[in-house]
Amino acid sequence: MDNATRDAGITMEKIVSLAKRRGFVFQSSEIYGGQAGAWDYGPMGIELKNRISRFWWKEMTQLHDDIVGLDAAILMHPRVWEASGHVENFTDPLVDCKKCKTRFRADQIDPEKLAKKVCPECGGELTDTRKFNLMFKTNIGPVDDGSGLIYLRPETAQGIYVNYKNIVQSNRMKIPFGIAQIGKAFRNEIVTKNFIFRTCEFEQMEMQYFVRPGEDEKFFDYWRKQRWAYYEKLGVRMDKLRWHQHGPDELAHYAKDAYDIEYEFPMGFKELEGVHNRTNFDLTRHQQFSGKDLQYIDQDNGNERYIPYIIETSAGLTRQLLMVLCDAYEEQKVADKGNEDDWRTVLHFHPNLAPVTVAVLPLMKKDGLAELAQEIRQGLKEEFSTDYDQSGAIGRRYRRQDEVGTPFCVTVDYQTKEDGTVTVRFRDSMEQVRVHKDELEATLRKAIKEYKRV
Ligand code: GAP
Repeated sequence: MDNATRDAGITMEKIVSLAKRRGFVFQSSEIYGGQAGAWDYGPMGIELKNRISRFWWKEMTQLHDDIVGLDAAILMHPRVWEASGHVENFTDPLVDCKKCKTRFRADQIDPEKLAKKVCPECGGELTDTRKFNLMFKTNIGPVDDGSGLIYLRPETAQGIYVNYKNIVQSNRMKIPFGIAQIGKAFRNEIVTKNFIFRTCEFEQMEMQYFVRPGEDEKFFDYWRKQRWAYYEKLGVRMDKLRWHQHGPDELAHYAKDAYDIEYEFPMGFKELEGVHNRTNFDLTRHQQFSGKDLQYIDQDNGNERYIPYIIETSAGLTRQLLMVLCDAYEEQKVADKGNEDDWRTVLHFHPNLAPVTVAVLPLMKKDGLAELAQEIRQGLKEEFSTDYDQSGAIGRRYRRQDEVGTPFCVTVDYQTKEDGTVTVRFRDSMEQVRVHKDELEATLRKAIKEYKRV
């Protein structure tokens, strides 16, 4: 089935509803009416988020010998953000309606209305456009007189730049090499619709790759290819992804060239991650502002000294989670037992990403089946993330597991007591096979390894 047919009628509302119903994502402070731009990750959501971040981390560090990790503090010296250009340039153009008081991003409203200063909501008069800095400010120390001004970091990248020399020295890194980091970032976003797509508090997975000047374009192409291949491995539908090159008016203040990988969300194609050629902008500025020598001494090239160029791959973890959810979501006609109106909602997560890998279900609670199922679950726990469910009809239990994307269900029935075999049910095909319980782990391992998205 093509994507357009499969995804017809799938709205963000449906994704939000499932995410809440099944414990992926909740509104922050919901009992107080919610906090705009902030979301909480429930039991399924945190499992999914952890799996995506582990997948990215493995891809970047374990599979690339020349990349090491870092976990820098969120709070950094305020001069960092002057040097990086964020104090001056990290702004959105804003207008307010004098009548209904709604605030808009000037670049997101009809240019004709903007020129005539007409509010798109109520027809009232708009203010002049002004620059609004997206960084959250707070105060450090006991006195709140502005002397303790500090920012919540709007990107994780700067923590890497200010540590680059430490890492070169402590880990004897040689150019080209990379530093990877996953962590929270904060932006005072004015438009925070579309669920967790654009939020004020989010997580980034960034990697900064330090190269010799003149080799930047070569490594820029290399990292574009690597990042595309990553999504293939992640097991998402590749025909929902595309590249978008930034035009001159889209480029960030630090970038020489930039490409976004975009995904076709229910609200259309939107940025998923960026690959940026940041040149030597950041390190040059940090050298100027800190007064510290940030040149690299290239021992392999006659001790040549230079400020490295940087190729950045910058992905949003929480945005990737939304992409994985949307990509996995399907409402499928099952027509079970001739019932034409029988549908299931299923999440086709790759088994490596699914919050629960295997659910163990006793056919009945009685006659020792529950105990036997618990015993089987116990044996699987060490290697797989498991769930156990004994309530309701077996068909309903399968559907509950489908809705959270559990790829395998193991059913324990009367035959298990007789010959030790169980049923393994595969989420995508709904096929069932009988295997001996002693072969269960090997069967699951093989199915995970050979998994192909249908
Ligand atoms: N260090 C470069 C940088 O931060 P960016 O394009 O501003 O570049 C990179 O952000 C990625 O971070 C985006 O592609 C997106 O996935 C994620 N991101 C940015 N702002 C976000 C927000 N407000 N909410 C959720 N994710 C966001």
